[in-house]
Amino acid sequence: MAQYRIDTKCIQEGYKPKNGEPRVLPIIQSTTFKYDTSEEMGKLFDLAASGYFYTRLQNPTNDCVAAKIAALEGGTAAVLTSSGQAASFFSVFNICSAGDHVISSSAIYGGTYNLFANTMKRMGIEFTFVQPDCTPEELNAAFRDNTKAVFGETIANPALAVLDIERFAKAAHEHGVPLIVDNTFPTPVNCRPFEWGADIVIHSTTKYMDGHATSVGGAIVDSGNFNWDAHADKYPGLTQPDESYHGIIYTKAFGQGGAYITKATAQLMRDLGAVPSPHNSFLLNLGLETLSLRMERHCANALETARFLQKHPKVAWVNYCGLPGNRYYELAQKYLPKGSCGVVSFGVQGGRTAAERFMKELKLAAIVTHVADVRTCVLHPANATHRQMNDEELAAAGVSPDLIRLSVGIEDVRDIIDDLSQALEAI
Ligand SMILES: Cc1ncc(COP(=O)(O)O)c(C=O)c1O
Repeated sequence: MAQYRIDTKCIQEGYKPKNGEPRVLPIIQSTTFKYDTSEEMGKLFDLAASGYFYTRLQNPTNDCVAAKIAALEGGTAAVLTSSGQAASFFSVFNICSAGDHVISSSAIYGGTYNLFANTMKRMGIEFTFVQPDCTPEELNAAFRDNTKAVFGETIANPALAVLDIERFAKAAHEHGVPLIVDNTFPTPVNCRPFEWGADIVIHSTTKYMDGHATSVGGAIVDSGNFNWDAHADKYPGLTQPDESYHGIIYTKAFGQGGAYITKATAQLMRDLGAVPSPHNSFLLNLGLETLSLRMERHCANALETARFLQKHPKVAWVNYCGLPGNRYYELAQKYLPKGSCGVVSFGVQGGRTAAERFMKELKLAAIVTHVADVRTCVLHPANATHRQMNDEELAAAGVSPDLIRLSVGIEDVRDIIDDLSQALEAI
């Protein structure tokens, strides 16, 4: 296929019908696939032939959508998961076991923080959290002999800190480990972390990719750039025989560009089963078709809304990396020149109580535990997504108790601003 631009890829990549086949991605809503002989089926189980046998492992609808996301990110392979949480977990667990260590930016989604700091800790995988703005010395000091990966979010939810991807990638590579980046907020339309040195990208496709708040989902994409064999002692799961799969060696059988995703599919998906339904993947694909158009509108609306809030006397502070003077403005100009995302955070004069009153007064913007769909919505993280954190942890994640997270939709921006305006007047 010609090297199309990102807007064209959103529409044309993934499903490529042959002569006489349906124009639109079919939903193969079947758990199983029929074969004439046991031998043929056996070859599939041995990973000696490619083909479908059970949807937990592979499904044609899911695969087409994964291929589209891989193309959008510029990766070699991808797998869809049933949620963004599953994608975060699989991306790390695919290369870590009990006794291993991972460095993560502290400015990450609250659910990811909980997964890393508590659940994966119980599995024996230890995380060190570093500030996204830490000095190179602080970042270097966090590495240990058993460090297996570095993790961060391109634009952190909800702190909206922009990760210096190039700097984090360089530090990771100097220590012989990959950088995993959660690219949910900008989407590949606004940033492609592989172009800055990231090795693995994950997504909560639940957000802008789906874009209509219909389907929880996730994706993991491999750049194919990390040389697992060069660090074979660190990654035995990829470079030594997998006894649970007839002694297959993933890097030998599938190469540098295929090993990581094949292992995630053949081993983790087989055993943990966080597979999306083909119907959800169909809906995700519909979302992806309009992703570039929607991102443009989300970003334009968010910038205008942020400018309005910045000037309003009842607003104490505004955080949007597209605003000149923002702490992350320069990094955003570098990594997100087309725009960042539709999420803006701010605090109102009067702190937590005024924030709660303001939210009650909103008419168009709905209070939901979600961001990044076509409808404008709002949330108070300290009372919702981040309520498991104490004040110290909240501060490290860049979430102040008065922070209001506004996800600017693609409605007419004048209606969004009118709604905010009347709610601010009321407090
Ligand atoms: C940046 C980011 N990563 C991961 C997740 C988890 O995704 P999901 O809710 O699809 O499991 C979220 C959810 O809000 C998120 O915002």
